[in-house]
Amino acid sequence: MTRLTRRQFVVGGAGVLAAAGGIYELVDRFASAPTRQAVRRLPEQHVLPGLRVVTDNHVEVLVPPLHNAVLTGRLTVGESGKGVRSAQDELESALAGLEEGLDHSPAGLGVTVAWGLPYFRRYVPGPAARNLPVDLRATEAAGRQVQALIDAVRFPSDPADVRLEENDVVFFFRGDRLEHVDLGIEAVRGLGGLLEPTSVRRGFAGGGFGGGQSLPKRMALAAGVPGAQLIPETAELFLGFTSTQKAGLGPLLIANHETLPGYTDQWPDGYFRGGTAMHLSHILEDVEAWYLNFDFQERIDTVFRPGERVPSGTQTVRQAPEDVSTAGRVVRDFHRSGGIGHSASIQPSSRLQADVTGRDGAQYPKGTAIPQRADFNTLDNPFAWTSRPEQDGWSPQPAAGVHFVVFNPTSDDFHRNRLAMDGRLPDGTRLPIDPRDRGQGINSVLRTTHRQNFLVPPRKHRSFPLAELL
Ligand code: HEM
Repeated sequence: MTRLTRRQFVVGGAGVLAAAGGIYELVDRFASAPTRQAVRRLPEQHVLPGLRVVTDNHVEVLVPPLHNAVLTGRLTVGESGKGVRSAQDELESALAGLEEGLDHSPAGLGVTVAWGLPYFRRYVPGPAARNLPVDLRATEAAGRQVQALIDAVRFPSDPADVRLEENDVVFFFRGDRLEHVDLGIEAVRGLGGLLEPTSVRRGFAGGGFGGGQSLPKRMALAAGVPGAQLIPETAELFLGFTSTQKAGLGPLLIANHETLPGYTDQWPDGYFRGGTAMHLSHILEDVEAWYLNFDFQERIDTVFRPGERVPSGTQTVRQAPEDVSTAGRVVRDFHRSGGIGHSASIQPSSRLQADVTGRDGAQYPKGTAIPQRADFNTLDNPFAWTSRPEQDGWSPQPAAGVHFVVFNPTSDDFHRNRLAMDGRLPDGTRLPIDPRDRGQGINSVLRTTHRQNFLVPPRKHRSFPLAELL
C-alpha cells in the first residue's frame, strides 16, 4: 500500500472540504457497517440510540459508529433580534432537511449541534443571563454563581501552546456510512449566509470486534504512522485498549443537565432540560513511544491501574462498579508504584459515589459512570481542514491522534475528570507527579493541541438557542 499524504487529497480534490474525506474513504473499504435497529428521535441530541453491544473478554462493549466528523464555525449573522430569529428558522429547516429519511442512529446519522460561550455572550446575552443552566455544585464550591457552561482552561499536563478556541457553534456528525456524514458536513457548508467554518475534523473508531484487522490498525498502516505495526491487530484504538466498555460510559440520560439531583437548576422545567455540556479537544498520540517505551504490563498499569493483572494481550479490562478505584486507593497505589492509571485516577470523579435515583426515574447504583465519551481516532494534523492553517499548526502529514468528545452534566464536571487525570483528585488531593511524567497515566504520550467547551441544547432548542426570547 503506497504511503498517502493529506496534500495529495486536499490539493488534488475538488474544493478543500469536499476532498477532506480523502484518506477516510479507506474506512469504507476496510470495514462494512454492522446491522442496526431502526430508532425514534429522542428529545436529547447527544444520546445516540442503536449502538450494538458485543462481548470481549467477558465484558460488554458498545460498538461505536465507524465514521465521525466535526465542523466548527463562527457566525456571520447580524446581531439584531430579527436577523437571529430568521437565522434560527433557516438553520432548523436545513437540519430537518438533512435528517429526512435518516434515523438519529449509526445506521442513519447522529446529528448534534452545540453552542459556545461566544454565541451566548454576543447574540443572546439577556436571555442567556436568565436561562443558561446554573451548576449548583460548582456554585456552592465557589461561593458565587457558576454556570453549567464555562470557558475551557489549560490543564496541568497541557502544553503551553494548547489553543483555547472561541467558536460560536459546533456540528458533530456520526454514523456507519461516510456518505451520510459527508451529507452533514455539506449541509452545514451550504449555510454560507449564517456561518464561516473554522475547521473540519474527521475520524473513525472500531471495526475490529469481528476479529478482523481493526480500522485504527489499517488506517495507521495506510498512512505510515510511526509505530503502526506495533498496534494490536484488532485494537479499537491506536493505543491498543478498548475504551467503550458499557460500564465505563454513562448510561441512558445520566449526562443530561437535570438527571442527577444537585448538579444543575434545570429540573423540572428549565429551558435546557434534556441538554448537556460537551467538551471538544484534539490530542496527538505518540504511538511509537507508547509501544517501545512501555511493555504490556506497564501499558496496563498506565491505562487502568498500577498492579492490575491480566493475561498478556488483553484489550478490554473490566471496569465494573465493583472494580472502581476510590481516591484512597489511587493514593495508596501511587505511594506503592509511583504512578497512577488513567481510568483509576479519573474514577473518583467519573463514577457515582453512592446509589442515586435519577430525575428520569432510573436507579443508578454506586459506581455507575457519568461521562458519555464519544471520542474517535484520527489522522488529522490537527484538523482535516482549517480556515487558519498557520494559527492551528496545520500539516498535510497524517498524525495519530484523538478528537476527544465527551458529554457531562456540566463543564465543571468534565474539568473535575480532566484534573483527576493529572492526579488532582476531587477531594483536593494533589499527587506530586510532574506533568506528563510517565507515571501520570497516559499523559506522557499525549499532547493536546486545541480545546473548547460547548452547550448541547435539547433537540427542540438546537438552532440558535434562546433567539426566540430576544
Ligand atoms: C488519547 C487520549 C485517550 C485515550 C487513548 C483514552 C483511553 C481510555 C481508555 C482505554 C479507557 C478505559 C476504557 C474503559 O474503561 O472503558 C479510558 C477511560 C476513560 N477516559 Fe480516557 N482516554 C484518552 C483521553 C481521555 C481524556 C482527555 C479524558 C478526559 C477526562 C478521558 C476520560 C476518560 C474517562 C472519564 C474514562 C472512564 C473512567 C471510568 O469511569 O472508568 N480520557 N480512556
